[in-house]
Amino acid sequence: MTLKILPLVFLAVAGITLSAQKPSLRQIPLDQGWVFNPSDNPAFADAGLNDGTWRPIKVNVNWDEQGQEELIGYAWYRLRFMLPKGMRDEDKLKEGLLLALGKIDDGDQVFLNGEFLGQNGRTFAPETEPPEFKTGPWDLERVYRLAADDPRIKWGQENLIAVRVVNPNGAGGMYGGGQHIRLVGLKDFVDFQADMTPFTFYGNEVVKTFDMINRSDKIAMSGTLSIEAKGLISGKKVTQNRKTIDLAPGEKMPVNVRLGQRDEACEISYQIVFKDGETCEYRDESPYILTPPVPSSPRINGAAVFGAKPDKPFLYTVAASGDRPMTFSASELPDGLTIDAQTGVITGITPVRGTYKVKITAKNIRGIAVRDLEIISGDRLALTPPMGWNSWNCWGTAVDEEKVVASAKNFVEKGLRDHGWAYINIDDGWQIAGRSPDPKRDSDGNILINNKFPDMARLGRRIHDLGLKFGIYSSPGPLTCGGYTGSYQHEQNDADSYASWGVDFLKYDWCSYRRIANDTSIAELKKPYEVMRDALDKGDRDIVLSLCQYGMGNVWEWGESVGGQLWRTTHDITDTWESMSGIGFSQVSNAPYAKPGSWNDPDMLVIGWVGWGPNLHPTRLRPDEQYTHISLWCLLSAPLLIGCDLTRLDPFTLNLITNDEVLAVNQDALGKQATPKIKEGQIQVWVKELHDGGSAVGIFNLGDETADFEVNFETLGVKDGKKLRDLWRQKDIGPLNKKHSTRISPHGVVLLKVI
Ligand code: GAL
Repeated sequence: MTLKILPLVFLAVAGITLSAQKPSLRQIPLDQGWVFNPSDNPAFADAGLNDGTWRPIKVNVNWDEQGQEELIGYAWYRLRFMLPKGMRDEDKLKEGLLLALGKIDDGDQVFLNGEFLGQNGRTFAPETEPPEFKTGPWDLERVYRLAADDPRIKWGQENLIAVRVVNPNGAGGMYGGGQHIRLVGLKDFVDFQADMTPFTFYGNEVVKTFDMINRSDKIAMSGTLSIEAKGLISGKKVTQNRKTIDLAPGEKMPVNVRLGQRDEACEISYQIVFKDGETCEYRDESPYILTPPVPSSPRINGAAVFGAKPDKPFLYTVAASGDRPMTFSASELPDGLTIDAQTGVITGITPVRGTYKVKITAKNIRGIAVRDLEIISGDRLALTPPMGWNSWNCWGTAVDEEKVVASAKNFVEKGLRDHGWAYINIDDGWQIAGRSPDPKRDSDGNILINNKFPDMARLGRRIHDLGLKFGIYSSPGPLTCGGYTGSYQHEQNDADSYASWGVDFLKYDWCSYRRIANDTSIAELKKPYEVMRDALDKGDRDIVLSLCQYGMGNVWEWGESVGGQLWRTTHDITDTWESMSGIGFSQVSNAPYAKPGSWNDPDMLVIGWVGWGPNLHPTRLRPDEQYTHISLWCLLSAPLLIGCDLTRLDPFTLNLITNDEVLAVNQDALGKQATPKIKEGQIQVWVKELHDGGSAVGIFNLGDETADFEVNFETLGVKDGKKLRDLWRQKDIGPLNKKHSTRISPHGVVLLKVI
């Protein structure tokens, strides 16, 4: 096996000035030398405090990764640094200083030389009393601004920054790295909207037009903008362009990028050189579609095995792509079940225990498709990982009935149902808020719903009428993570309500149960889930139970024993490479526990327009990172819950979630979870055994440069196969030789099947 890094050198990351990389009087790094105290005391803000006994801490990774697991509450970080007088003389723009503290999970109050400076990224005027300390967005870069004559700054002397951090749950602390203090420059007034504007597919091209805006109200900007695009696999320069920048304060100019559609992503770099020599650079990647168009003749997709409990209402929709109208039939359907010939929805009451082999036929004017479906009536649900949509990663607590219904309709209209997508799940935010003066429950203890969801039973019916399944969210504690009413001491009431609304899936999120649990023993961790499973089982529905407690107590070792079908293994995901790859590539020790009906859940998908509501943005994952995300989640047999606004699905995102050969890896009936077989430099090769005797092989490049890699299938331990297939392109790439050479783009993947 050999690993060769191509001599392709790519430019710096978005937003970083080239000049800032050299030591300069304009910028002082603050990413080293911090000390830490995991307690809370207002005196920790004092400049004169002796912090000599505090322990050193890194500020590029959260405190959990540095031996402070489960630190819930407050902690302080402190750092001393010199601010040279000469820096002030360099301040030509007279715009003062910018203090960047990276990301802080979840809330921060910052003090400079003992004086309050700001909170959660908002700078306050000198001599302001700190407001009530609240958590802020855990994923926001904290940036504070100070005028050069701000009395809190000590020019030519040692300065002290003290940061008070609060973390109510999950991981905590300063993280993200790159902390610094610097002079405000022209680039700080550039609003370069490339990232906020996705490419659109137009004929044979991908195009985007976005604005570059001068956000200063007094400084003009002039210089040049150079745009260069280069293929990430071919290394070929695709386009080059230069534009003059001449922007009055507040003015904007359009920037156009137009590229031919290709079989690879192109890296686009936008370099700005201002007249005074200051430079800054942004980068972007063009999307490319690999999934071939869906054939017009019928094709039956999705899981070929389905589990349900005897005597309960049954709902399974045949996922079939191809031109409509299409008619469906099923031979040897057990008594009690019928198939709707127009929609392919199978309903009825689940028959007595047993395995029923059914033949499904789908027909249209272009042809006919026949496939086996195994219905297993027994104790197990979710025999393949649940596939659906969840409201959290897009709408957060701004979710409402209209948005949920729009998602369900889009599952049908955009053909997602035809590829096996089934669940429509409401996450947090449908209950009455804990802080609201309104009653949270009726006099019988039944949970009340907030006015964004006028009628849950009606919503359940609307979702079922589309052949889809309905999911909901709660917490075993008094409050959910978003501060809404939880199920504590009303578990049976809630389970009964869910059953009466037609709920098929419950995500049950630990959160405020922390205050109820006596300790973190396995028995205490299990308890609330056992209580809810019991309550759910008293009803007459199959309700999949999703444990959300971020992997505490190695939940994968006991999630099945409390009646869960899936369990979150990590803290929350966000739409960055660090978050997605950090979570995805660390799903290793839990692999042996994945099997039909028991799934490790590395959290929901972060593709498309996301934002945790109400404002959304296109995912910050680059196109190749998104191919990696989907490939890895499929290899991991992870539940696939789309977290984006389905009304804004672009052709690239649609290509990611409608590739039946890729999805088949996820829905494979054997239910194994891939494991990493090779880790060599930045290359990782993950292999998943499949029920047909074949193997899915993902070759990932975690590095920042394009890489060539030769896989030796013998070393991989992949069973002898006859051919090699590229799953994204749905193309055979020849008979299997012992070795296969491939080129992988930065953060990209090649997904193969050996059969
Ligand atoms: C978090 C959970 C998220 C989401 C959120 C709702 O604890 O991990 O996925 O459900 O709560 O408040």
